[in-house]
Amino acid sequence: MATAITDDIFWVGVNDRETDLFEALWPLPHGISYNAYLIRDQKTALIDTVKKDYGENFIREIQSVLSGGPKIDYLIINHIEPDHSGAIEFLIRRYPEMCVVGNEKTLRLLNGFYKVPNRTLIVKDRETLCLGNHTLEFVLTPMVHWPETMMTYEQKTQILFSGDVFGGFGVLQKGLFDDEVDLDHYIEETRRYFTNVIGKYAGRVQKALAKLEALPVKILASAHGPVYRKDPKKIMELYAQWSRYETEKGVVIAYASMYGHTKTMAETIAHSLTDHGVEKIKLLDVSHTHISFIINDIWRYQGLILGSCTYNTALFPMMELLLSVLDNYHVQNHLLGLFGSYSWGGGALSALKKFAEKGAWKVIEPAIEAQCAPSKEVLKQCRELGRAFAQALRITPA
Ligand code: FEO
Repeated sequence: MATAITDDIFWVGVNDRETDLFEALWPLPHGISYNAYLIRDQKTALIDTVKKDYGENFIREIQSVLSGGPKIDYLIINHIEPDHSGAIEFLIRRYPEMCVVGNEKTLRLLNGFYKVPNRTLIVKDRETLCLGNHTLEFVLTPMVHWPETMMTYEQKTQILFSGDVFGGFGVLQKGLFDDEVDLDHYIEETRRYFTNVIGKYAGRVQKALAKLEALPVKILASAHGPVYRKDPKKIMELYAQWSRYETEKGVVIAYASMYGHTKTMAETIAHSLTDHGVEKIKLLDVSHTHISFIINDIWRYQGLILGSCTYNTALFPMMELLLSVLDNYHVQNHLLGLFGSYSWGGGALSALKKFAEKGAWKVIEPAIEAQCAPSKEVLKQCRELGRAFAQALRITPA
């Protein structure tokens, strides 16, 4: 249902409870919202749209605000990814004279995805568009999350429409605003959204944040999740910490095990970590925990210990997938431990070592390898790895 943010600015987004995987990849146990915003003024502007599946709903929401009155004059596209642009064709059919506003890269992608609208306007960084009482200022923030991404700042109300940045997973329940919802729930799902979807571009998020420093932001209205009117700085600061790869003291042990032997090694390391004072430990089986949640925990905690059995003389496939994502996302600032096992042909530990050599990891020894079931000597090494890791955590700033 359309919700007023000010007398003239409305949320007209939708809640998606049907999609299981965002980008066909990331689980949505609590759904997701696609936020779009309508500004009523001498000229009417819409900021972003919603996923195509919800196009008709979306048009109904807009019409409920406009009461069959004014047409849409401008559609501002902060981000062309189809979760935000999918309803463009519904709008063009309903408002054929609407002018579609974006930067040069936006419009190139727009033409690739959709039927070209009748009217377009290309804007540059910091250009403004006056609607009457409201003035929109465009802030180009490339690669958060695509090359064309930009933010729109409304100067009178000091509302920042930020696109994906500051957004998170989770449908809006109980209310739209940060002071109406269970914020802890959203913060957890926002971190998972950041680490899964935006994290690869952490450096670009830092640049975008630096660019925003001069703008007073009263209300933060992103493209997913709650609108922050009580404390916009809170979510901005969290995005700043996450994009700086700031971690908490704790260890993720992610392991692959077919018959329980590599799992025994993982559990032995975990017990040793506990014995040596580490309180936050996540023991995650890559076959049973979706990679989305593993990446989220890895981003959060300073220590990462990877263990894999060998499968067809190479890494276990789910571990291989995890490593390829970590590699692609350039995860930084972590201590790393390694262990592996094989039965009749080696592979897993050497593949883990190659992964470690490629990235910016501080590797904690010993790297451990078991043949078949772990021997007493191997389990002793596991305990030693736990001890060495706990010590390294104590002396390494998070
Ligand atoms: Fe919410 Fe990058 O799309």
